[in-house]
Amino acid sequence: MIPSQCILRAVTRISPSKYIRETAFRSYPSRFSSCINQYRNANSDTIIRPTNAVPFCTDRQSSVTAQVVSEARSLSASTTCANDTTLDQIYTKNGLNVKPLVVERLKGHEKDEEVVNGDDKSVNRDGFEGVKSNDLEEEAWRLLRDSVVTYCDSPVGTVAAKDPTDTMPSNYDQVFIRDFVPSALAFLLKGESEIVRNFLLHTLQLQSWEKTVDCYSPGQGLMPASFKVRTLPLEEDKFEEVLDPDFGEAAIGRVAPVDSGLWWIILLRAYGKITGDYSLQERIDVQTGIKMIANLCLADGFDMFPTLLVTDGSCMIDRRMGIHGHPLEIQALFYSALRSSREMITVNDSSKNIIKTISNRLSALSFHIRENYWVDKNKINEIYRYKTEEYSMDATNKFNIYPEQVSPWLMDWVPESPDSGFLIGNLQPAHMDFRFFTLGNLWSIISSLGTPKQNQAILNLIEEKWNDLVGHMPLKICYPALESSEWHIITGSDPKNTPWSYHNGGSWPTLLWQFTLACIKMGRSELAEKAVTMAEKRLQADRWPEYYDTRDGKFIGKQSRLYQTWTIAGFLTSKQLLQNPEIASSLFWEEDLELLESCVCVLTKSGRKKCSRAAAKFSLRTPAMAWTRLIQSARAALGTTHSSSTLGLPRFYSKPATYFVKVGIPEFLGGIGRGAETHIAKIETEIGDLHKLLVTRTLRLKKLGIPCKHRKLILKYGQKYRLGLWKPRADAIKA
Ligand code: GLC
Repeated sequence: MIPSQCILRAVTRISPSKYIRETAFRSYPSRFSSCINQYRNANSDTIIRPTNAVPFCTDRQSSVTAQVVSEARSLSASTTCANDTTLDQIYTKNGLNVKPLVVERLKGHEKDEEVVNGDDKSVNRDGFEGVKSNDLEEEAWRLLRDSVVTYCDSPVGTVAAKDPTDTMPSNYDQVFIRDFVPSALAFLLKGESEIVRNFLLHTLQLQSWEKTVDCYSPGQGLMPASFKVRTLPLEEDKFEEVLDPDFGEAAIGRVAPVDSGLWWIILLRAYGKITGDYSLQERIDVQTGIKMIANLCLADGFDMFPTLLVTDGSCMIDRRMGIHGHPLEIQALFYSALRSSREMITVNDSSKNIIKTISNRLSALSFHIRENYWVDKNKINEIYRYKTEEYSMDATNKFNIYPEQVSPWLMDWVPESPDSGFLIGNLQPAHMDFRFFTLGNLWSIISSLGTPKQNQAILNLIEEKWNDLVGHMPLKICYPALESSEWHIITGSDPKNTPWSYHNGGSWPTLLWQFTLACIKMGRSELAEKAVTMAEKRLQADRWPEYYDTRDGKFIGKQSRLYQTWTIAGFLTSKQLLQNPEIASSLFWEEDLELLESCVCVLTKSGRKKCSRAAAKFSLRTPAMAWTRLIQSARAALGTTHSSSTLGLPRFYSKPATYFVKVGIPEFLGGIGRGAETHIAKIETEIGDLHKLLVTRTLRLKKLGIPCKHRKLILKYGQKYRLGLWKPRADAIKA
């Protein structure tokens, strides 16, 4: 059924220039009438009012309301949804023209191009050809497609679960931002990008809403945990659709979805990498969205650590589980989102500061995590013998950890091998949470938050502790479970989080795709294959549960939803990644030596010393010594002795010196070399910019008189560039 009106009331946003706290939309005035005094909508009184889908109401000055509403109207398209152009209308009005996605296809040596428009399934996915989906995968695809939610007749996301027998879906009938990521990847890897693009743009619109809990509005830039498409009746049998976001104000426990914005940025990068459609991330409104999220996360506070300070349950574990403070999961996603932002934010005068801030934070964050969260047998032994109450800048036990925290389970569990270890779950003054949290460890590998050696050691640990962390169903969300009084005190006696259930040591099949990605990155695909093979024996028969219970994941979870979308999508994404590891490589990050090196100076600054060449040199003997060791070991692991800058000299916001910060046609063709550079002038005049070149047909190049040899090179390197497998080196170009 097509709604008579698709009023984008819920998807309006303030203009880029006004993104700092100027919106006038309230998320749910109906709930807090004392805060709100202008809600007068006769129609909506007759319907079951959506919790927070009525934004035209504010407790602010009406002039402000009028201004923002009119601004919102000029940006949004309050029109009928007769076609799919709603979002394009919005952005065209914003001065940005959106083109249909064009993806090049490289096919063999003879026929060197084929262009497909939009979501044609023939998008280049070399590894998939010849791979036959079995029944299981077919069922998974059918279920995934069934879970798709449409808005104005366009796909915008997937519901969290779609169990036909579930009469009380709670909020599982909503599109969760984090849950949609594996769905998005499954679709993207299959060459279907429309749903992902729509999702990214619609959720971006929700970002600017002013949301309120007890008359308090959290920061601009927050992304909702989930949203629902609601149908509201209008007069004369007509109806309209609205997007109704939940920023945590309706969620159980009122938890803040800190991870949503981070996932949104990570997905935006993945969209560009897989489709080659970088124009999406370059739009002004999308750039603003990235900066709003980054600003919210980078805002100064009272915290002493570079890690992000959050409340309990602010991520996948969205109930009280003792993960307030600086949980690893958030730090790893934060790091990944900052790395993505650094790649995607357009470099210009106005973005220099934020890029610099991001680079500084990345350096400090990776140093802090690598140094302080890492444990292996030796480190635990060191903690076991810690002296306490050290007051000085040179304390060994900086966080005043009492050795008694090394509990009996840890002493038994600590890996024997010197090549195994992991990043602990959380670090606070006088508190180390030694639990193993899977998602955080996996994203540390994927994003290179850990050193190459640490990343390898985490996978070694998973292999060594296979029965504990994988058991009958990959993978444990955390290990071990909280039991007895710890469970009472830390979870608040939560009956859903009883020991070895749900978030408290349950097994979550959705973690499989992230495990697969981490394994592919570290050259350990066989581990992922083993886990996938094990999962596929049960998932279909068990009706795709959300999670499993018991110490080794034997039972379907006590309160587990069935036909859980991210279980299904996670499985499909894992299969696709294994079939096409080349594409997988565009979804992770390698070590960035520049970030490591700039940290020497950051460290010196935090040590209250002047940042100069001398200070940097001095720092090599103090805290930065450890850092230098990390740099050296990273270099050794990467097989390079190359230093892109003098150690200790700050270069906070530049890319590695050997690569261009900004790649245009001259850099791209110059980087390819082998004669391709002779066409720079012609291609610049005729084609214009690099993005256009990346989607140009060979026929067009031929018409420009570019010889076959060079056409092939341009297409080949264009493909690699889009996938992040290659970029032109500055030092490869002759002066
Ligand atoms: C539960 C999970 C959360 C997930 C949601 C929807 O609340 O804890 O991580 O996003 O269900 O599946």
